[in-house]
Amino acid sequence: MNIEVRYYSKSGNTKKIADAIAKQTGGSAKSIHEPIQGEVDLLFLGTGIYAFDIDPELKEYILTLNPANIKKVVVFSTAAIVKSAYEKTKRYLQAQGLNVSDQEYHCPGHYTILRKGRPNADDMKKAEQFAKSIINSL
Ligand SMILES: Cc1cc2nc3c(=O)[nH]c(=O)nc-3n(C[C@H](O)[C@H](O)[C@H](O)COP(=O)(O)O)c2cc1C
Repeated sequence: MNIEVRYYSKSGNTKKIADAIAKQTGGSAKSIHEPIQGEVDLLFLGTGIYAFDIDPELKEYILTLNPANIKKVVVFSTAAIVKSAYEKTKRYLQAQGLNVSDQEYHCPGHYTILRKGRPNADDMKKAEQFAKSIINSL
């Protein structure tokens, strides 16, 4: 089974969650600047929220994904205030023809004076558990 982890992360919060998820995949988490090679059974795709949206660069990245090569996408996210980037990310993924899991992982992410110390060890442990349960259900 080929499982990939990609993230868009401006300040490293979402990367921490991506690294935790990758502990369960047997691979390593990579930024969206590393292209997907070949066929993928599952893509974990993570992002932060910026100005109440996902970054234009992530939207452009989604347009490069080939639904014929990626069976399923699982979204994970971090943000200071909003509760998830799932709906926004899903909209772009589905418009590209990708199959998006209805399960997602989200936790708070530090920004200025907000959410200091997040993601913390518990957030990362929960992300790992989430990834494990997704992979076990395949
Ligand atoms: C330029 C910028 C804009 C942001 N705008 C929002 C926002 O509108 N809503 C929110 O909940 N968090 C906002 N945040 C906080 C980020 O979503 C949060 O810090 C997230 O964990 C960042 O993930 P990253 O470190 O992987 O980039 C913003 C952060 C930055 C840097």
